[in-house]
Amino acid sequence: MSKVAIVTGASRGIGREVCKQLAERNHQVVAVARSKIPLQKLQNEYPENIFSNPTDLTVEKSVTELIQTLTSRYEGVDILINNAGALINKSFQELTLNDWRSQMESNLISAVNITKHLLPLFNNDAHIINISSMGGFQGSAKFPGLAAYSVSKGGLSILTECLATEFAEHNICANALCLGAVQTEMLEQAFPGIEAPVSPEEMGTYITDFALNGSKFYNGKILPVALEDPE
Ligand SMILES: NC(=O)c1ccc[n+]([C@@H]2O[C@H](COP(=O)([O-])OP(=O)(O)OC[C@H]3O[C@@H](n4cnc5c(N)ncnc54)[C@H](OP(=O)(O)O)[C@@H]3O)[C@@H](O)[C@H]2O)c1
Repeated sequence: MSKVAIVTGASRGIGREVCKQLAERNHQVVAVARSKIPLQKLQNEYPENIFSNPTDLTVEKSVTELIQTLTSRYEGVDILINNAGALINKSFQELTLNDWRSQMESNLISAVNITKHLLPLFNNDAHIINISSMGGFQGSAKFPGLAAYSVSKGGLSILTECLATEFAEHNICANALCLGAVQTEMLEQAFPGIEAPVSPEEMGTYITDFALNGSKFYNGKILPVALEDPE
């Protein structure tokens, strides 16, 4: 059965691959990010299955407008993949309070915001997938320069457990995937020169499979998706 999926952070990297995979399996995808041109290109590649909507998820008014559009186009939403994220690589000493606020806005509050506004639209058995990081997984190796990023992802991981509890009565599942290194622009920024063992296509396939089938087996789980550190 064709599902309606919202994928954030869809303009490049992992999110873009997830959109393509879902579209190729004939699901309806709403691709969300700020950059208009790559989103339009993605929509043009899959005009029957991908609808793109440029939105800055840190701006409440933009998210409200996105929800209005979704309400007029779809009867319900089956999958939300909170994949949008940003990374500031600075030592703890150099990080400003504005850097901390910005990381929380990009990686945690934006997911809170869209999830909250989507609540009335979620179908029975909807699945929320929060794309966290091994940096946000308790007990994993931590890396210099990634304190604000890792803490924001840790918040997203714990949010997942809270959502699963609060939404249980609505039959909505929530899981977090704590990704290891994937070869994208973000990885290059975090660990310049490093070669990741996983491509965005491979991770896109894993996330797509998990989004479609994972809620049969997991709810409220924070799952590491990594062979080894660094991630
Ligand atoms: N790559 C890795 O090794 C790795 C490891 C662990 C976790 N992750 C996580 O996986 C997710 C995807 O990462 P990636 O490597 O594919 O990163 P990426 O290539 O840098 O892509 C990030 C995406 O998020 C979007 N985005 C950022 N801020 C946004 C905002 N305010 N509103 C809307 N969209 C926004 C960006 O689009 P615009 O700039 O067009 O808005 C872009 O599409 C992230 O959450 C990241 O933290 C990645």
